[in-house]
Amino acid sequence: MNAQTIRSKYIEFLKNKGHVEIPRAPLVPLNDPSTLFIGSGMQQLIPYLLGETHPEGQRLVNSQTCIRVQDMEEVGDNSHTTFFEMLGNWSLGDYFKAEQISMVSEFLFDEVGLDPNKIFVTCYRGNKEFGIDPDQEAIDCWKSEFTKRGIEAKVVDIGSADQGAVSGMDGGRIFLYDGNENWWSRGGNEENTPIGEPCGPDSEIFYDFGDEFHDYEKWGEPHPASDSPRFMEIGNSVFMAYRRTETGVEELPSKNIDFGGGLERIAAAAINSPDFFKISLLWPIVQTIENLSGKKYESHTESMRVIADHLRGAAFLAVDGVVPSNKEQGYVMRRLMRRAIRFAFELGIEQGMCAKVAPTIIDLYKDDYPEVAEKAEEIINVLKREENLFRETLRKGLHEFAKRTKDGLTGEEIFMLHDTYGFPAELSLEEAYKQGIDLDGNWREAFDKQMSEQRERSKTAGAGVFKGGLADHSTETTRLHTAHHLLLRALKDELGDHVVQRGSNITAERLRIDFSHPEKVTRDILDKVEAVVNEKIEEDLPVIRSEMPREKAEELKAEHEFGAKYPDTVSVYSVGPKDATQDDPKHENAYSIEFCGGPHVSQTSELAANGKRFKITKEEASSAGVRRIKAVLQ
Ligand code: ALA
Repeated sequence: MNAQTIRSKYIEFLKNKGHVEIPRAPLVPLNDPSTLFIGSGMQQLIPYLLGETHPEGQRLVNSQTCIRVQDMEEVGDNSHTTFFEMLGNWSLGDYFKAEQISMVSEFLFDEVGLDPNKIFVTCYRGNKEFGIDPDQEAIDCWKSEFTKRGIEAKVVDIGSADQGAVSGMDGGRIFLYDGNENWWSRGGNEENTPIGEPCGPDSEIFYDFGDEFHDYEKWGEPHPASDSPRFMEIGNSVFMAYRRTETGVEELPSKNIDFGGGLERIAAAAINSPDFFKISLLWPIVQTIENLSGKKYESHTESMRVIADHLRGAAFLAVDGVVPSNKEQGYVMRRLMRRAIRFAFELGIEQGMCAKVAPTIIDLYKDDYPEVAEKAEEIINVLKREENLFRETLRKGLHEFAKRTKDGLTGEEIFMLHDTYGFPAELSLEEAYKQGIDLDGNWREAFDKQMSEQRERSKTAGAGVFKGGLADHSTETTRLHTAHHLLLRALKDELGDHVVQRGSNITAERLRIDFSHPEKVTRDILDKVEAVVNEKIEEDLPVIRSEMPREKAEELKAEHEFGAKYPDTVSVYSVGPKDATQDDPKHENAYSIEFCGGPHVSQTSELAANGKRFKITKEEASSAGVRRIKAVLQ
């Protein structure tokens, strides 16, 4: 069974058990700046795990695209990827341990067909400080699942991972570990659970690839929660019934299930391949890289894994509207791409890699994720553009490098190459090494000093600068604020849905908007946008403020600033339709709708006071992948 089939079977299987399929959340969290990326399926469900009512009911299922950047440097081994899919099912106060363990067993053993002899599971051994006993219920449920399948499951209280490396498995099938291993929250294990976070004991499922993959010298005795590649965690049922407090835990309003299963990992287990780049969602990408480079995976394994993983992640970031830049998500996307391109360099792929690899990635996902098909061209363009940019940077940087390193290389020079030419410091080091250039003994101190001085400089420059939003609440500023909403809508209509607001600044004189878009907007398009905004002003549309739950506003696809945090009840401004009223705002038919605190005019015709017209005065780059428009009413 390949990965795509496992994904669809899983969703079908849980739907047949009363679950409603919910869409994946975009990789960039909508209302949660605490993490740069969605790293687990439960993230979009936090308010509901904490007690709010979910509109789709108490049983939910999906496959969630995730990115875990902390794993970036580890990619290259057989099982780390930055991008992955997590199969998830949730019970929000409905079923609990028994039904979950029975369902996940049925799915893995009977649907996917994994050999139960190769499966080992772990449960929580309890914690006196929290007043929580060993998880006897989970133990009993697993015992009965194994017994049903002809396996007598011995329970071993292994204690901790360190202890396990000494005592080994002792013939066990079900292992009890402490809160380092069998406790889950977004922050990690028991110790790292932040106060206020939902959390709980968990029960993890491991696939055993066989003792030949275990290195006794490196890992000690084998046991499931060891880092040994012999065992791979393929699923985790979290019994999310608690919330962390200052002193311990308190019970949540309901006992929830949060199950997460790594799609790629289950797919690797299904073909019994400890190398999970061999699965159907990754191998075709590797093959494209083989073809492009004329080299073989067997002899260039690490590089090809890095390229396949990183470009897949970057492509999905492009799907979700991220463009490479120098900060936050855009920066991670840039790093992924630049790492991929550097590894490609070593394989002799000189250029045009993204144009060739991206279509393979798109083909793998387009049938299951319609947004991938819809945005195919955009994905390829965004990736191609960054590749060209970086290759140009590398070319110039190498040229400068050659000019400046005749007498060795200092930290100041490494900084200058980085600061002025965008030539990465690690590349300078690598080149110096390759070309046998003398590296100054103090290079690191000098480089760090320059970096921190630069940080100071930019801090001073940033202090006191008016950052975003409205300068004041004067009539002119208010008019331009409403024009700003019309403009964002018109830009999206002309350029596409990848356009999201990345910043705004409005004074009585002009408005300024930053938005994601990979290239210059032509004057032709600006003219069209301008005309549309003036049309909407002439139509004299009503502008209406409403309050609603955040989820409702999201459902209505109300615009909001990328990365901003919003409360549970939000204020929303809609413009149009013509017959909208405060009592019947007709949000579904609004021309524009945004999360916004105001103020605004009440009718768009107020923007045309004294015969004024909306005019775009400037279009320029703000940062890579982000454009800036200035406009006035004059
Ligand atoms: N949220 C749990 C995890 O990510 C299922 O492991």
